[in-house]
Amino acid sequence: MREKQPVILSIESSCDDTSAAVLRGLEVLSNVVCSQQIHEKFGGVVPELASRKHMANIVPTVITALTDANIKLEDLDALAFTQGPGLLGSLLVGGNFIKGLSLGASLKFLAVNHMHGHIMAHFLNLETKPKFPFICLTVSGGHTQLVRVNAPNEFEILGQTIDDAAGEAFDKTAKILGLDYPGGPIIDKLAKTGDPLKFSFTKPKVKPLHFSFSGLKTNILQFLQREMKQNSNFISENINDICASVQHTIVTILLSELELACEKTGITEVALAGGVSANSYLRDNFTSLALEKGWASHIPDFQYCTDNAAMIGASAYFKYLNGEFGILTDKPNPRLPFIL
Ligand code: KG4
Ligand code: ZN
Repeated sequence: MREKQPVILSIESSCDDTSAAVLRGLEVLSNVVCSQQIHEKFGGVVPELASRKHMANIVPTVITALTDANIKLEDLDALAFTQGPGLLGSLLVGGNFIKGLSLGASLKFLAVNHMHGHIMAHFLNLETKPKFPFICLTVSGGHTQLVRVNAPNEFEILGQTIDDAAGEAFDKTAKILGLDYPGGPIIDKLAKTGDPLKFSFTKPKVKPLHFSFSGLKTNILQFLQREMKQNSNFISENINDICASVQHTIVTILLSELELACEKTGITEVALAGGVSANSYLRDNFTSLALEKGWASHIPDFQYCTDNAAMIGASAYFKYLNGEFGILTDKPNPRLPFIL
């Protein structure tokens, strides 16, 4: 007979999405994401507004997650929250809510690293879970990392960005182009009818397995300023080609370092994670590269790529099995190190 699996309520509130999920083991019973539209008009996340919105949204989001899962408080075995990295005010709302509920309902809790959650999201879909060790390219709004995953929640960083993250490269380019926030999904959409080879941008010169995206942003800005001097409608007349070419540059940089990581380690079990792994051009090119190289490739279900509480529940589940419970003095940490 199968052992009874723990039922865990998890919360993700590191940035501008309030999310709550209920998992039984690694089976997702519910995963509710309440996004905050308010930041769109400011062209980026306003931290103070984000924490206020989390405060307003957290109770209804948790109630919806419990109702969708058909789970009552007394059915829960543990709670989990994102401890960091992220925005302090946002992290405090999720962390304090869970600590309060933990005291009120006499439940233990698990404090989870957001980036571990992105990687552990791969285990939410049991049929295609990666085998250890595997290489994960984690690309989000704040991070770009090449990680060797040796076991659940056991990681080694092979390389990472020395400045901007891949998501920031998408979002900052979108801002330069006058597009809304977050720019990643908008560039993805506009690029679909553009020519990825129409314009070329510089590739960074950094240590192998590392990334840099701040030079690309400057390169794009200078290119556009030059072109706009000749033709003030350059952006609107070429928006699809510009988006496709920028996206092509970012994806080429990411995949060439991933390829190198696989060559250096000899690992052929390869995964993508983080919000930017929702990008259709990255997903398609990753899948083709994997086919060409003979890798076993893994991308989480679309809904588990961008920020969500189910991924926090996945990392929490493995911590639960190891008895790695949190204590009330575990503070939210905006700069929580990837490896403690
Ligand atoms: O992982 P995530 O949801 O939040 C962080 O942990 O940062 O990642 C958010 C990032 C944003 O920069 C957003 O523009 C980017 O992921 N993103 C995309 C796409 N969907 C989300 N970037 C490119 N194409 C997409 N389809
Ligand atoms: Zn994230």
